[in-house]
Amino acid sequence: MLHIFSPGRINLIGEHTDYNQGYVLPAAISKGIQFSLEKNDANTINCYAEDIKEATAFSLSNPSSKDYTGWQLYFWGALQILQQKGIKLQGFNCSFSSTLPIGAGLSSSAALSCGFVFAINKLLHLGLSRKTIALIGQQVEHEFIGVKCGIMDQFASLMGEKDTILKIDCKSQVVAPISINQQNITILLINTKVKHSLAESAYNHRRNACQEGVELLQKHLPNIQSLRDISLSELHEFKSALSDDIFQKCLYVVEENQRVLDGIDALSKNNWAAFGEKMYLSHHGLSKLYEVSCKELDFLVEQSKALEGILGARMMGGGFGGCTINIVQNDALNTVIQQFSYAYEKQFGIMPETYAVNIGAGTHVCS
Ligand code: GLA
Repeated sequence: MLHIFSPGRINLIGEHTDYNQGYVLPAAISKGIQFSLEKNDANTINCYAEDIKEATAFSLSNPSSKDYTGWQLYFWGALQILQQKGIKLQGFNCSFSSTLPIGAGLSSSAALSCGFVFAINKLLHLGLSRKTIALIGQQVEHEFIGVKCGIMDQFASLMGEKDTILKIDCKSQVVAPISINQQNITILLINTKVKHSLAESAYNHRRNACQEGVELLQKHLPNIQSLRDISLSELHEFKSALSDDIFQKCLYVVEENQRVLDGIDALSKNNWAAFGEKMYLSHHGLSKLYEVSCKELDFLVEQSKALEGILGARMMGGGFGGCTINIVQNDALNTVIQQFSYAYEKQFGIMPETYAVNIGAGTHVCS
């Protein structure tokens, strides 16, 4: 029996920059999806979601075009893409269970699709690289789920390393591991437990707005290919070429890219306080310029400013719900968790979940 662990991810800073060819700073975490696989002699792939006790079988000899939804659609999409690549699949049994909260912005979907492909790759000795697996995971999102996501989640889940964050240059797709000193701080996630509808369509809308911005700017700056290639002063210079809305979206992205680089510099000096300031600025931009936050996320970030022992906080991931990420001094951790929980429950009538993050290894075979 083959056992695979496929982690979720956090992102310290660099939100909505990946599909703009920019920088991100994610890490794999110790929560994730555990897959167990073994070959069978049938020409069928039997899959079982242990947590929800749901089974499905994908026939290789007689593929059905059933309208799959949920996890089954991710698996179906991944199998389709592997076959389109000319890969000959064989029958196997696969079961999986998860410790990742779904819809909390910890990339449970990347963990699911990439973990599934990674497991098949190992079981059938296909020789696919981690990068290829990541790109297949992204293709599943684009073509089967309808979310035009970037590459951050898939790269972070597959390429994470223990106690290390990844600087990913989404233009060159080069991943640089950076070790961080977490001796005095804890990375604390607070799950709002809300996920507002329209999150997917709003995500694609943001992506299109940035693309439109690039096309309009290209009339003045023909050499640019993405918002990565534009400086802040150039953006201001050609502001009148853009609508106010598109200008704001572009401004957020250009500034956020710079914040990632400044943040890395702060971390190299072990200056979490300076890093935390960048996180607050990132949240402000996400909320006011990029408009992907929501009242629950804004509330938690505002609260964090009033609490002792928090160095920085912001919403994390695509937005419209999910988690905030907070840098908390270790000696304040327990008090802060209580204060957040009390205030959030009082405001919204929901008890938030909190997770102290352990940065773990990317997708791997378990013994
Ligand atoms: C989601 C997407 C990522 C990225 C983030 C926002 O997690 O899957 O590609 O765009 O949102 O940074």
